[in-house]
Amino acid sequence: MDKFLVRGGVPLEGEIPVSGAKNSALPTLAACLLTPEAVTLRRIPDVRDVRTMLHLLQLNGAQAERREDGSVCVTAAEISRPEAPYEVVKTMRASSLVLGPLLARTGRARVSLPGGCAIGARPINLHIAGLEQLGATLRQVHGYIEAEAPQGLRGALIHFDRITVTGTEDLLMAAVLAEGETVLENAAREPEVADLAALLVKMGAQIQGAGTSTIRIRGVSRLHGADHTIIPDRIEAGTFLIAGAITSGDLLVTGCNPDHLAALIAKLRQAGVEVRRAGNGRLRVRGRGRLTAVDVVTEEYPGFATDLQAQFMALMTQADGISFITETIFENRFMHALELVRMGASIRVVGRQAIVAGPRPLSGAQVIASDLRASASLVLAGLVASGETVIDRVYHIDRGYERIEEKLAAVGAQIRRLV
Ligand code: EPZ
Repeated sequence: MDKFLVRGGVPLEGEIPVSGAKNSALPTLAACLLTPEAVTLRRIPDVRDVRTMLHLLQLNGAQAERREDGSVCVTAAEISRPEAPYEVVKTMRASSLVLGPLLARTGRARVSLPGGCAIGARPINLHIAGLEQLGATLRQVHGYIEAEAPQGLRGALIHFDRITVTGTEDLLMAAVLAEGETVLENAAREPEVADLAALLVKMGAQIQGAGTSTIRIRGVSRLHGADHTIIPDRIEAGTFLIAGAITSGDLLVTGCNPDHLAALIAKLRQAGVEVRRAGNGRLRVRGRGRLTAVDVVTEEYPGFATDLQAQFMALMTQADGISFITETIFENRFMHALELVRMGASIRVVGRQAIVAGPRPLSGAQVIASDLRASASLVLAGLVASGETVIDRVYHIDRGYERIEEKLAAVGAQIRRLV
């Protein structure tokens, strides 16, 4: 079980590159199932969840491999097994992203229900309800969703009870081959949704409004191959901005899209961190020692991202004053708080709110990562803590960050992987 050893106290300085977005890679890879022709995807990060998705596509019968130049090519000429088995889904709940494409392409799908996960129940009832509105019949049997649409899918007006990112993506991929028009109302506006739509349009889909709350799709009979470069990872970029701030460093985050980070940048500036655009796809962040506590409420995009909540909490442990952090998206996304407290932070969790009192000096400790973004939070805390921090179960962080310890070490962090 890999661990990270982090020795704190070094201001990070230099250029740190951002990889392609994991949460864009997963839906765009699933979209390759919609055509028998070859699809090339570029800037796909080499992270565990991507490897899991490539394995799943191969299980479905597609050819899916990474080329020498780093691009990924998927050809789903035949889909011999329209299924996402439990063994795969239990390691990555985003496997449910193949439900819509398999149903749209083959008229059937058998996808294991995702178990719960550390941050919440995370049901897929809204995915299922939407697919039923498109004319599919779905039933739950032995922990699997068995879906059928023998006559194909028909367009419908679908209003999401609550905003769901992969729910929007699943239904978008189902609708592009449905007969007639589909309207998705109260759709997710995340940049990853718009990126998926951009790929689908290159494949021949007819989509308007992706990236807004209302998406209109006119179904087509067939999609063709395409070549697409996915967007940069805004959560990785945000994590690095916070790393520069928490170590009072001077970092140039390169290869990012600053427009996707407006909510975080505003909060960092309110807290007294200097964040400036520094040319194409580059953000310069400078911590200037004193930090002011600010409140954060996580919201769907373009609000403050829930995936940056844990990382921002680590920063607030060093800020002067009281920070109220409210998590509105998931019901159990404060596990990192308990580990931060073990490092010396003053944090009280009351329901959906964490109350952080700072500044508190952190001291290195042995801590355990519970989920992907919590592990990033612990790395950030280790970078500012005195002494050594050993973070266990870093396989969580490998799910969504490409060689994070190498990237951080290259800008001065004292971090290394213990195998
Ligand atoms: C996506 O998860 C991301 N994952 C998550 O990133 C991210 O935290 C989340 O969106 C919110 O931004 C991917 O894109 C692969 P939701 P998703 O459906 O789609 C409830 C990371 O760290 N809900 O938008 O699963 C759900 O329980 C990961 O990279 C239903 O009730 O999230 C949650 O409370 C973690 N029924 C809320 O909606 C449904 O059918 C938002 O979930 C679907 C969701």
